[in-house]
Amino acid sequence: MKKNSIVIAGGGSTYTAGIVMLLIENQDKFPLRKLRLYDNNKERQDIVANACEIIIKERAPEIEFTATTDPEEAFTDVDFVMAHIRVGGLKMRELDEKIPLKHGVVGQETCGPGGMAYGMRSIPGVIELIDFMEKYSPDAWMLNYSNPASIVAEATRILRPNSKIINICDMPVAIKKSMADILGLESENDIIERYYGLNHFGWWTALYDKQGNDLMPRLKEHVKQWGYGAKNDGINNPLLAESSWKDTFTKAKDVFAIDPVTLPNTYLKYYLYSDYVVKHSNPERTRANEVMDYREKNVFEECKQIAQDGTAEGTSIEAGEHAEFIVRLAGALSYNTYERMLLIVPNNGAITNVDPNAMVEIPCLVSKVGVEPLSIGTIPQFQKGLIEQQVSVEKLVVQAYLEKSYQKLWQALTLSKTVPSASVAKAILDDLIEVNKDFWPELS
Ligand code: NAD
Ligand code: G6P
Ligand code: MN
Repeated sequence: MKKNSIVIAGGGSTYTAGIVMLLIENQDKFPLRKLRLYDNNKERQDIVANACEIIIKERAPEIEFTATTDPEEAFTDVDFVMAHIRVGGLKMRELDEKIPLKHGVVGQETCGPGGMAYGMRSIPGVIELIDFMEKYSPDAWMLNYSNPASIVAEATRILRPNSKIINICDMPVAIKKSMADILGLESENDIIERYYGLNHFGWWTALYDKQGNDLMPRLKEHVKQWGYGAKNDGINNPLLAESSWKDTFTKAKDVFAIDPVTLPNTYLKYYLYSDYVVKHSNPERTRANEVMDYREKNVFEECKQIAQDGTAEGTSIEAGEHAEFIVRLAGALSYNTYERMLLIVPNNGAITNVDPNAMVEIPCLVSKVGVEPLSIGTIPQFQKGLIEQQVSVEKLVVQAYLEKSYQKLWQALTLSKTVPSASVAKAILDDLIEVNKDFWPELS
């Protein structure tokens, strides 16, 4: 079995230690010869890297491990780049969420004005990573899950159309984990899906088990009453331990009610029930605060503890389930497994009545030769209308970035289903420009 070399870009991420654990546990399925961490913030990355070094020394000493902020060192001799950077950090996420809320509009990491602000920051960061990869390891693949994935994917479609980058998201996998629990199946990988949409904006049209039995009727019965949440304590999805995620999973029942033919992605609540979301948000304390106070704090404290003790024995850091699908994706590219996965790819006729140049999230077959999208056909008017509106928002953000256009970004915000009027869009935009001066191009 060929051994791979990986660089994790965004080495200082709150997810990195969990991904390293997962990679170590998957050495039989996806063996590594080298593992590097790369970040542009040395201080932050060192906290994680010092712990990872000890973990690898103890559990997989055959893997050569390094952490660096030097692009040449990081990107030379790699087979895969796993990219999960957050340009501007959680501090900027906090502003992405709080500024729209101040104007009575959804404040969310990837949806609505906050997602657009984040997109304007992420585009140059991800493009830079692609260029490093192509300069130092031209045959490598980049598996990108830096957000906002839709806007980043559209930017790469335009700016780096021939690059070996695959954009992915873990939300459908996380929802399928709940589906597996609801149905009493062992793993979400036992579920075969038909799904279409955009990132954080899609619908399942069919779900089968490996024997070909239709799972939709039982799932719909459950979702109608409890969303993707638990009827009792029978659902083990770790996300449901957090109340904000629990609310999102439960709210899927109201999203389902609008179109009971399909099953929805949880993120649709931000577009279809934006009034509810705003009413249930605290403009003084958003998800970014929760992440900083819990995930970031806990992970970093644990990493520091490992470094201080000089051992990771008994550590609470667990293999991040979140990254399982990335190992499957890298494995498919490396070992030609023809894995069927949801990926964000150019539509190119797969959904016949949606813009061929939209970046859509649909099932694809993944092998050594790359990604082959499966065809979807014609979708109903309701989804087509929503998708076309949202695609236009995402395209306008990328155009605004490229043309440094205030007008286009104002149009993007105005067109978003989360924003009530052009005047509210303008007020939010002006506030966002103020705080994003260090990141965005100057708009005129
Ligand atoms: P985080 O802030 O903890 O970590 C991100 C790291 O990226 C930081 O260490 C930061 O210094 C680094 N970074 C920022 N800009 C960089 C650049 N230009 N070059 C190199 N490094 C840079 O964030 P997090 O909460 O761990 O999330 C990481 C990313 O993963 C975010 O974009 C998040 O939205 C995304 N994410 C995506 C999915 C998905 O399904 N697609 C799931 C979870 C998280
Ligand atoms: C899911 C989504 C990601 C998003 C994350 C936010 O995993 O697919 O795109 O970044 O949730 O989770 P958080 O715990 O940071 O709010
Ligand atoms: Mn996602």
